[in-house]
Amino acid sequence: MTLLCITIFSCQSGTDPAVYPIQKQSISDKAMVVTAHPLATQAGLEVFKKGGNAIDAAVAVKFALAVVYPRAGNIGGGGFLIYRGKDGDIAALDFREKAPLAAHRDMYLDSLGNVVDGLSKDGHLSVGVPGVVDGMVKAHQKYGKLPFADLVAPAYKMAKEGILITQGEAEHYNKFQEDFQTLNTQKNVFTNETGFKKGDPLIQNDLAEVLERIMKEGKAGFYEGKTADLIIQEMKRNNGIITHKDLKQYDAVWRKPFQEPYREYEIISMPPPSSGGIALCQIMNTVEAFSISDMEFQSKEHVHLVTEAERRVYADRATHLGDSDFWTVPRKQLLDEAYLAQRMENFDPNKATPSDSIQAGNIAPPESEETTHFSIVDPEGNAVSVTTTINSNYGSKVVVGDAGFFLNNEMDDFSAKPGVPNQFGLVGNEANAIEPEKRMLSSMTPTIITKNDELFMVLGTPGGSTIITSVFQTFCNVAEFGMGLKDAVHRKRFHSQWLPDKIFIEEGSLTENVIKELEGMGHVVEVRKPIGRVDAIMVLPDGRLEGVADNRGEDHAEGL
Ligand code: GLY
Repeated sequence: MTLLCITIFSCQSGTDPAVYPIQKQSISDKAMVVTAHPLATQAGLEVFKKGGNAIDAAVAVKFALAVVYPRAGNIGGGGFLIYRGKDGDIAALDFREKAPLAAHRDMYLDSLGNVVDGLSKDGHLSVGVPGVVDGMVKAHQKYGKLPFADLVAPAYKMAKEGILITQGEAEHYNKFQEDFQTLNTQKNVFTNETGFKKGDPLIQNDLAEVLERIMKEGKAGFYEGKTADLIIQEMKRNNGIITHKDLKQYDAVWRKPFQEPYREYEIISMPPPSSGGIALCQIMNTVEAFSISDMEFQSKEHVHLVTEAERRVYADRATHLGDSDFWTVPRKQLLDEAYLAQRMENFDPNKATPSDSIQAGNIAPPESEETTHFSIVDPEGNAVSVTTTINSNYGSKVVVGDAGFFLNNEMDDFSAKPGVPNQFGLVGNEANAIEPEKRMLSSMTPTIITKNDELFMVLGTPGGSTIITSVFQTFCNVAEFGMGLKDAVHRKRFHSQWLPDKIFIEEGSLTENVIKELEGMGHVVEVRKPIGRVDAIMVLPDGRLEGVADNRGEDHAEGL
């Protein structure tokens, strides 16, 4: 058995601290790749050495993540891509999953009209029609330079020859063993009765065969023929509703990127079906009016202001945002300066506004977190920001029999019933109700920021509903609090989202004193697990690139 780490890295199995060397910060004057896994970062850099561009690297990284980071970086899910070429041309690709043709708005309700616990979250009925493979094919068709098969080849090789699993991956596989067993009837490589440990080899022959078909046949290698047959066979094992027709007619779409100025910056991000771009800029524009840069970082004034802005923005999200192919999103009104000012009219600098007294704004009719993000800048200066997801850790936990990849549980991102929270505590309404072929509302916020019309930052993160606020905090830390990128990414975060009416904080973020002060103002503060895994690149004043990988995971930044 040849393990791929031999050709890419010298294997360090058993030599702490990591199976692969992990680098959190890198400075380069040429190109940069930051992803959730060192082998995926390496796959992107190899593309540059062969003359490929940022999109070629994104395709190689995406397929590599499907092999080395199956809990999120999968071909059974969907995502968004933001591109900015060296000459300033921009594009947004939507390869979000879609509801199957047989889906309907009450599909997760029982006969009494109550949401059946877990039905939209675990197992075959929670799966949306995957978009990743078509997304990568379409991105490559428009911008790619190297042959598509050559970009999938490193992933194929890693699946076929095996990789060593990291500490983080071993822990996650072990944590989800029970789910893997109860939700699957077919044998798969992710189930191991004695448990996984760091440095164990993982060979994925079934997945290698799928990747080989994609290399040979492109889109048809996934959406038609043997892979499609295997997906449909898997669906039939437990009441799944995706059909051959769903797969055949899946189509990733190029959308007009969301673009909004902010002082000397321009934010280029994802439009609906993501709520990311709109909500991010709503929060930024709201807090800017209150001179946030004059506040002390993570003081009660800072956290209170941001929480009050986020409360109002997430209330808008729940009512006004949905897939714009099915719902008219009042984008212009939501970002209108006067509207945002009016939303803050009842803001009290000394007192929390209870969320049950906040509703979405009145708009005249005309919007587990296991997602993964990577940021790339190539030697020519083209930039790509990609966030993809299978929703929860390992998505639906269903592995396609004889195909070796997890299917998403993205249907949980729809609103199963108005006002009933999904796994992220997000509530929704008519705008995000289930309809056949509709895309479920997302929070993914792959973003590129320019400063005075020059590339400035490429960033994004996983984290479900916390994605928007993590992207906001990272940029705000740089633009308003003057931090360098490493601090901006690594500093502890906080998050709020209207409902539940709480401020969630990472351990060690706010001082005991600030927490007490916020509680005195009427806020409920709760410590939670780490928030986000931001992978970002910033252009330094001297033109060099700084890549920073979040210290909350095994993410790896490396330049050329
Ligand atoms: N599945 C998380 C999101 O798209 O927001």
